[in-house]
This record gives sequence, structure tokens and C-alpha cells, in this order.
Amino acid sequence: MSVVTLRPLTRDDIALVIEVENDPDAAGEFSWFGFRSWTANEPVKALREDGGHLAVVSEAGHFVGDVSWRLSMNAPPPNGACWAIGIMILPAFRGCGYGTEAQRELVSYLFAHTPAVRIEASTEAGNVAEQKALERAGFVREGVLRNAVFRAGTYHDMVMYSTLREERDLP
Ligand SMILES: CC(C)(COP(=O)(O)OP(=O)(O)OC[C@H]1O[C@@H](n2cnc3c(N)ncnc32)[C@H](O)[C@@H]1OP(=O)(O)O)[C@@H](O)C(=O)NCCC(=O)NCCS
Repeated sequence: MSVVTLRPLTRDDIALVIEVENDPDAAGEFSWFGFRSWTANEPVKALREDGGHLAVVSEAGHFVGDVSWRLSMNAPPPNGACWAIGIMILPAFRGCGYGTEAQRELVSYLFAHTPAVRIEASTEAGNVAEQKALERAGFVREGVLRNAVFRAGTYHDMVMYSTLREERDLP
């Protein structure tokens, strides 16, 4: 099992993430939505009221990717609020178990530091790696969101996953 820790992103980390997100091959089929507007000069936000980003660090101390969360509303606020998480593992570190462990760590982090009871994650129906990573990290598959994302000139189905506070073995 890969061991990872989470910490705030540095400017160097952000520069690397921007590089990957602006390179269609490096971003990967399911994360290429055209060029992004953000730059490394934007403020480094570990936590905001409506979400945040953290760096994923391997046991050897390498920056291997980025995890994020944002407020998602399934009913009028505040009754339907939960976190929706996202992830990007750098190309050189994909397929090593970091994606699974990073999402497991992020769930523990968010349940420890915020009162959320539900954390959700959606991914394209074709993104097998992310679906496996989510399932291995303890997420439950809830269903298919039809034509939920427009990418590469057409609409694609997405799969919704979630994990609940009551399902986790928290300290
Ligand atoms: C999707 C992603 C987060 C998964 O993280 P990862 O560290 O590469 O995945 P893991 O090593 O934890 O492996 C998860 C599972 O997917 C499998 N897998 C990895 N890459 C795969 C691929 N290209 N195709 C099919 N399965 C793959 C692994 O073998 C593993 O399966 P197993 O449990 O049967 O062994 C990562 O690959 C990534 O950042 N991809 C690009 C961005 C992206 O797609 N983000 C998610 C958008 S919703």
C-alpha cells in the first residue's frame, strides 16, 4: 500500500499542476478541458469556506499530485450541502496506488476538520482508474448521471460515488 500525506500546496507544486493541466497528453483523456486561465501567481489556498486544495506527498517526500474539494448543493442551502472532491496525480506517479490513498486521506481530513456527513465524487463513465481508486478508497457507487459533462466535442455520462461519515472508522 502506498502511504501518502497531505499538506498545503507550494508555488512550485502549483506551477507543476498548471503545466500538467495545460498539456493534453499529461492531463489525460478525462481531465483535458482545454487551456486553463489560472497562473502560479494566484494565491495558494489550503482552505476556503467553499473548498480547498492540498498537495499529495509520497512516503519518499515527492509531490505526486493534488486533491481538492468544493461545496456541492443537493438541496437549497444549507440543507443539501456536502463536499465534492477531485484529484490529479502527476503522470509519472499514476498507477502506483497514490490516487487511492490520497482520496482515502482526504476523506479522513475532511471528516476530521469539517462537520460534513457526505463526501461525493463523480467521474466519467470511461474513467476506470478513478472508479477503481474511489471504490478501493471506500466510496460507494450510487448511479449514472447521463450526459453530465461536455468534453472533446461531445457529452459523456458520469458515475456518482459517495462516502458517509457513519461508514468511516474515525478517531
Ligand atoms: C484517476 C487517478 C486519480 C487514479 O489514481 P492512480 O494513482 O493512477 O490510481 P491507483 O494506482 O490508485 O489505481 C487505481 C486502480 O485503477 C487501475 N488503473 C490505473 N490506471 C489505469 C488505467 N489507465 N486504466 C485502467 N485502470 C487503471 C489500477 O490498476 C488500480 O486498480 P486495481 O485496484 O485493480 O489495482 C489518476 O490516474 C489521475 O490523476 N488521472 C488523471 C486525472 C484524472 O483522471 N482525475 C480524476 C478525474 S475525475
